[in-house]
Amino acid sequence: MRLLLIGAPGAGKGTQAELLAERLGITHISSGDLLRQHVRDSTTLGQTIRSYVDQGDLVPDGVVMDMLRKPVVAASETGGYVLDGFPRTVDQAKAAFAVAEPLGAAVQAAVHLDVPTDELVRRLLSRGRGSDDTEAVIEHRLQVYEENTVPLLEYYAGREWMFTVDGAQPAEVVHDDIVGRLRRLAALAAEAW
Ligand code: AP5
Ligand code: MG
Repeated sequence: MRLLLIGAPGAGKGTQAELLAERLGITHISSGDLLRQHVRDSTTLGQTIRSYVDQGDLVPDGVVMDMLRKPVVAASETGGYVLDGFPRTVDQAKAAFAVAEPLGAAVQAAVHLDVPTDELVRRLLSRGRGSDDTEAVIEHRLQVYEENTVPLLEYYAGREWMFTVDGAQPAEVVHDDIVGRLRRLAALAAEAW
């Protein structure tokens, strides 16, 4: 299974990706976690991207694509992936599809985790991950999401493999909703044959 999780900062992408990876035996790939690891390790890439991540701005598309290509292809050869935080823009979605489709690694389902803004802010402030969980940076990340990722949801809208779940419910309930929807999608795909 090859899945995408799309949602605002704090929507629960990482939380749900972990649960799905375990349940479905697929690889969790988080663009944010990989980028933060580069920053922590002070790699050449980490030094280039630190200010983007700290300020809550999107890292340039090419950098993210280069970083994800290998792990995504490897995961699709070994059971599949749940991608958390990528794509985040229509351009990233188009570029990724062009690379993945010929390799048989293109996405099969996309999940939108929908959570009200006040709950997002509450979650992020209480988590306090580091430099990007301050009040000002959270506000900026939410704005970046509205400007860049909401158009991606509009771009995917109407595709039968994209669905929205209520991400404000307890994490286990959100997980069960996602699994239920994936089962229905799989059943529909089987009927189509
Ligand atoms: P990224 O790491 O993706 O951060 P984000 O989108 O801001 O989201 P978070 O990781 O903060 O939240 P989440 O949705 O994973 O929620 P979580 O499960 O942790 O990106 C960081 C930065 O990297 C970006 O700003 C950008 O600079 C760069 N970047 C990343 N991808 C990029 C890309 N594709 N292109 C360009 N730049 C990119 O949950 C949050 C909290 O809520 C936790 O404490 C959790 O325990 C709690 N929680 C989760 N679910 C629930 C629930 N159901 N009920 C109650 N609490 C819950
Ligand atoms: Mg995350």
